[in-house]
Amino acid sequence: MCGIMGYVGSGETVSIILDGLEKLEYRGYDSVGLATVERGRIKTQKTVGRLAALRKMLAGNGKRGGAGIGHTRWATHGRPSERNAHPHLDCNQRLAVVHNGIIENYQELREQLQKKGHIFISETDTEVVAHLIEDYYKGDLLAAVRRILGQLKGSYALAVLSADEPGKIVVARKSSPLVIGLGTGENYIASDITALLDKTRDLFILDDNELAEVTPAAVRLTKADGTEVTKEVFRVEWDAVTAEKNGYEDFMRKEIHEQPQALQETLAGRVDWEKGTVVFPELKIGRDDLSAIRRIHLVACGTAYHAGVVGKYIFERLLRLPVEVDLASEYRYRQAIIGPDVLTIVISQSGETADTLAALRLSQAKGSRVLGITNVIGSSVAREADEVILTQAGPEIAVASTKAYTTQLLSLYLLGIYFAQELGTLEEALRQQLLTEVKLLPHLLEKTLATETKIKEFAEDFKAKENIFFIGRGLDYPSSMEGALKLKEISYINAQAYAAGELKHGTLALIEEGVPVFALATQPDLYEKMLSNIKEVKAREATVVALVSAGDYKTEKSVDYALYIPKTHPFFTPILAVVPLQLFAYHVAKVRGCDVDKPRNLAKSVTVE
Ligand code: M6R
Repeated sequence: MCGIMGYVGSGETVSIILDGLEKLEYRGYDSVGLATVERGRIKTQKTVGRLAALRKMLAGNGKRGGAGIGHTRWATHGRPSERNAHPHLDCNQRLAVVHNGIIENYQELREQLQKKGHIFISETDTEVVAHLIEDYYKGDLLAAVRRILGQLKGSYALAVLSADEPGKIVVARKSSPLVIGLGTGENYIASDITALLDKTRDLFILDDNELAEVTPAAVRLTKADGTEVTKEVFRVEWDAVTAEKNGYEDFMRKEIHEQPQALQETLAGRVDWEKGTVVFPELKIGRDDLSAIRRIHLVACGTAYHAGVVGKYIFERLLRLPVEVDLASEYRYRQAIIGPDVLTIVISQSGETADTLAALRLSQAKGSRVLGITNVIGSSVAREADEVILTQAGPEIAVASTKAYTTQLLSLYLLGIYFAQELGTLEEALRQQLLTEVKLLPHLLEKTLATETKIKEFAEDFKAKENIFFIGRGLDYPSSMEGALKLKEISYINAQAYAAGELKHGTLALIEEGVPVFALATQPDLYEKMLSNIKEVKAREATVVALVSAGDYKTEKSVDYALYIPKTHPFFTPILAVVPLQLFAYHVAKVRGCDVDKPRNLAKSVTVE
């Protein structure tokens, strides 16, 4: 994900900014750029690739004093290129802007600005911000930035520089983090506390809809409506490593908690809310191509495979097409029937998994069109697939995949609705209902995180268990599989997932007093059947944790522990249900003293077979 660093003061502006950006490198990026004001003009330097290359270009630029802003970009709108790298400038090159987040209505704004004569250089959503400010700038940068905010839909952390006010940076924030570091006779701005820790530990943390004018001597904070804001200075006591984790003990817990934001960003720009339609402008596959598709193959490994299993339910329900879901390591050798009438969808967080890539190449060789869903722009899947959808989870550092999974699910839901909309297989009323629910998912996931308090309380009870079973029916079955995988990989407890209807066919023999069973019962049409399965295992004195939807207080009478997810359309429960499963795995692993971020024997990216 993108990173922002800025400086105002009498120090070495360029090297201070480069050092700050270096601290943000771990987040991942594909291009980098920097702007300063020199001799009354904005000067920018940008490059595709690593920060070290920009450092080389700027070697010898010992510029002291003034203001500067820098940015590491993780491409969303427009490929990685020098033109698309930040900072972006207005027509007269008097303003420079860096931005994290997504301006959802940028197309509309771009067209309006073009009609007024503005010339655009890049393909990015960010460039509209520079041109909008240009329209309102009358010598007061703070006032001009404040005036444009009402026109921006989406999320942003913005930092703006003006050649006419050289010792100043103006920043603004909505749904994307931004902090101001306080020095003596100098100040800093950054998207992440990590970038500032070796400079200062005193910060202002900007809240949504707040702006600030930052000069070497002062920080003026205001709300978007112009009201002045007074804030307490936030003193950071963390060390640098903890700061990278933003105060969380581990990356895994941080990433679990980042899921509402990750969903929000994956959703951004995907729905035309006025028309009530899903949009995927980057897809070349049209209605005629879709009509020629007779089967869909979903292929992936590990957690991404579980997203594929949910995908099978989604596509079959929405498109009424036969869907096969395969582990990539099996698909590549099982002589699957693949041809031009098959759409292959490969799912991979890293985009580098060896088996998934082999499956992609095999499908292409057999004439199938391949659509890749990946989190990493520039990855092999992103480069080789015929069509690419990028999830916007941001860098996932912990080996256990969490936010990548929920964003994969959201992408599959949106894709399913989009294909159904193109093919006319989805009733209008249901589509509107689904879209209404989709919009709420980031918020509902945020609420689901509240299950953590209870999970933390009872995690200790599972510390010494050797086997745990996860059971569910319908869409709860893939969630059970994902819950079992999470627990296995980070706590080293043997965990197995079963379709609850399968218990009687063998597994019930293993259920005896105290054996833990995690039962998912979020599907109303299968609820009574799940309740019977819960009673079956309870009758054998299993210890049962039930995961149900809010409002279902009947189940808790039959189980040892009950966890609730907020009510949503039953179709979407996998996105919420997985959260308590991730948290359960996390807290059980922690009480067992495991290194949750780096489980034994595992790598984040499996690039060998
Ligand atoms: O990068 P990918 O999504 O292709 O990775 C696939 C699996 O290796 C990955 O999901 C793995 O199962 C995770 N460690 C699970 O948490």
